[in-house]
Amino acid sequence: MAASDSDTESDAGTGQGDSKEDEAVALRDVRKTYYLGEPVHALDGVDLSIPRGSYTAVMGPSGSGKSTLLNLIGCLDTPTEGEVWVNGREVSSISQRERTTARGEEIGFVFQTFNLMPKLTAAENVALPLVFQGVSKSERIDRAEDLLSQVGLGDRGDHRPNELSGGQRQRVAIARALAADPAIILADEPTGNLDQETGEQIMGLFQRLHDEGNTILMVTHERPIAEHAQRVIHVLDGTVEKIEEIESPRRVETDLP
Ligand SMILES: Nc1ncnc2c1ncn2[C@@H]1O[C@H](COP(=O)(O)OP(=O)(O)OP(=O)(O)O)[C@@H](O)[C@H]1O
Ligand SMILES: [Mg+2]
Repeated sequence: MAASDSDTESDAGTGQGDSKEDEAVALRDVRKTYYLGEPVHALDGVDLSIPRGSYTAVMGPSGSGKSTLLNLIGCLDTPTEGEVWVNGREVSSISQRERTTARGEEIGFVFQTFNLMPKLTAAENVALPLVFQGVSKSERIDRAEDLLSQVGLGDRGDHRPNELSGGQRQRVAIARALAADPAIILADEPTGNLDQETGEQIMGLFQRLHDEGNTILMVTHERPIAEHAQRVIHVLDGTVEKIEEIESPRRVETDLP
């Protein structure tokens, strides 16, 4: 899936001295200002380097800019100022069309509310990103079945989202995020709507994805969830307040029910 684990303990914050090849994501003095009457500085000068193969959590108070940060990295939005690099490509200054393509190729997005298509089955939801990549139908079905098995839902491909539990829906959403083999998995509160036990299952899944070399960036409000990551970026008032290294990230015993 993703490249080798080139995790460097030093210098996770500024990215100074990192070579581009080792970075899944880099932000250079990124600002995002919303103008609704008073300007709102959602991000106010953020420099960041996310090494390839790393597992990072983002924490901070409500309104501090966490989702804004993820949306910029996920090519869902563009900064007011500064540069956003994803997998060695500067995605902040390219056209809307190119950005949509970049998002499809580089990003797997997992949302708090799952965002599954209600009328499609689990397998069709997982296969959806591949439609836009021009993958043939038979290959899409194979890939969707394989991904659903990987998240422990090999027997649920024909279920629609409302015929699945919350944790199962989130696992379908994660399988969908993986469909196009993205360079980075972005998750905005992936356990926010789940009970603790189901949340742990999702953490088990992320743990396996990280062990396999994937880059994961996850927003969470819950400290125990954040401690599964290797480092925590603390965001405050649109800036990076500090970057905390987790000495020994929490491990989940069994990753799937
Ligand atoms: N589309 C928008 N238009 C105007 N202001 C916005 C918009 N999106 C976000 N904001 C503002 O930007 C700031 C950062 O919002 P953001 O959604 O990034 O916060 P957050 O850290 O994800 O919060 P939460 O933990 O509540 O999800 C907030 O003050 C918010 O009101
Ligand atoms: Mg948010």
